[in-house]
Amino acid sequence: MSDTMNKMIKQARKCAEEIKKYKEVQLVSHIDADGITAGSIISKSIERADIGYDILFVKQLDKNTIEELADQNPELVVFTDLGSGQIEHINNCGLNSVVSDHHRPQGETKFHLNPHLFGANGSFEISGSGTAFILANQIGDNIDLADLAITGAIGDMQYRKYGKLVSLNREILESNSTYISSKNDISLFGKQTRPVYKMLQYSSDPFLPGLTGNEDACIDFLHKIGFQYAKDEKWRRWIDLTDEEKTKISSSLLQYSMKNGLSSYNISRLISESYILLQEKEGTEMRDASEYSTLLNATGRYMKAEIGMAVCMGDREDAYEEAKTLLATHRKNLVDGLNFVKINGVTQLSHLQYFDAGKEIPETIVGIVAGMSQSSNNRHLPIIAFADSEEGHKVSARGTQEQINRGLNLSEAISKVCHEIGGGGGGHDIAAGATIPAGKKEVFIEMLNAIIATQITKK
Ligand code: C5P
Ligand code: C5P
Ligand code: ZN
Repeated sequence: MSDTMNKMIKQARKCAEEIKKYKEVQLVSHIDADGITAGSIISKSIERADIGYDILFVKQLDKNTIEELADQNPELVVFTDLGSGQIEHINNCGLNSVVSDHHRPQGETKFHLNPHLFGANGSFEISGSGTAFILANQIGDNIDLADLAITGAIGDMQYRKYGKLVSLNREILESNSTYISSKNDISLFGKQTRPVYKMLQYSSDPFLPGLTGNEDACIDFLHKIGFQYAKDEKWRRWIDLTDEEKTKISSSLLQYSMKNGLSSYNISRLISESYILLQEKEGTEMRDASEYSTLLNATGRYMKAEIGMAVCMGDREDAYEEAKTLLATHRKNLVDGLNFVKINGVTQLSHLQYFDAGKEIPETIVGIVAGMSQSSNNRHLPIIAFADSEEGHKVSARGTQEQINRGLNLSEAISKVCHEIGGGGGGHDIAAGATIPAGKKEVFIEMLNAIIATQITKK
């Protein structure tokens, strides 16, 4: 076990002891896949310890939400996958709290479990669900929740930096092989649930020139390499193929991509590590961490996180059916969002590129769309997206590892701008977000551009 893991466990023990003092606790978690899995892990562990709980899922933790929580006078609030950036507000409101999070901390508190406090980076070494998993295992024996811990890390794209999970995430993966396993495989989405040609047709990250969005071309591609099926015949899914057939399709796709102008960066991403939840049924979304996390995002990002949580807690009937319906809408919204960016393009400044989705992309998924658009835009500049929000404008920012190496830190840059113009934000070096006051888009983007310029030149 690594030294960092040991330190995290020690701190988790203190937090767990605090939680166990109470009969009833208030849980607060984030609405994305990582937040839903983190919330579910803590809920399960608390339930097993015979402690009562109520859970609240929020889009972001702002001053108002914290004040509303404080008004209810809870004995203890446990924050998962959020809180570290708002510790000052939490303390100022007099809330008794345990904060289990992986975002860049701003402020200090006694019961605080966060990888950054032990020298680890919360954007790729461990996520909110992994941090919650460590805490849960100090509350009781909850190792069976390791699959949810990994699913949350995948939801937060923690594999992106190295093309696989590393560090604390890897420790969780490798020490819980009864529940979760990894395997090098084609990286396209839908290996468990989609017919193979649909998997090609809907590939958006990377975008496959000539195949993405073109059903006939995908069927034709498979015909040409010997997969002869009639169009209306029941097509096999990726998991139904033999290893030999999988290798054949993967290598033909690599060749096709080289011939059709895919960048070497995107070609290298066609094969990657995938993660299998061994206790889940084959052919369901829950069997594959990537499909599972998308299913969860399809609930939480539309304010239905409790549906996703019910699935995590074991419901394979009503909640699962509802989640699948939500997933269809979510996929459509992502496709529409990507098309919006393709048609309207992005504006380039010296040190960033941006687009404004206005009302066209919901604020809760504009960050996902920005991340997915990155591979088809200028890879040397971070991408910033705006979307309308009730409180003003939602901002989402995504960078790449190469930019981080040159000095970029989106969370720091966004926090600085918000400090000057109002609003609140934070996140990670590679992915950050904020809500800013209405009418401040231009000043925000100019200031952000200037700050990023200083980050890059300082290094
Ligand atoms: O709020 P939270 O920390 O859960 O969100 C993390 C966000 O960072 C996700 O939207 C994820 O897509 C993004 N991310 C990324 N590239 C990485 C790591 C995270 O775009 N290498
Ligand atoms: O919303 P989005 O997916 O762009 O969020 C990217 C990262 O920024 C996430 O880690 C999220 O928790 C963080 N964020 C934040 N404050 C906000 C919005 C996003 O800390 N107001
Ligand atoms: Zn997270």
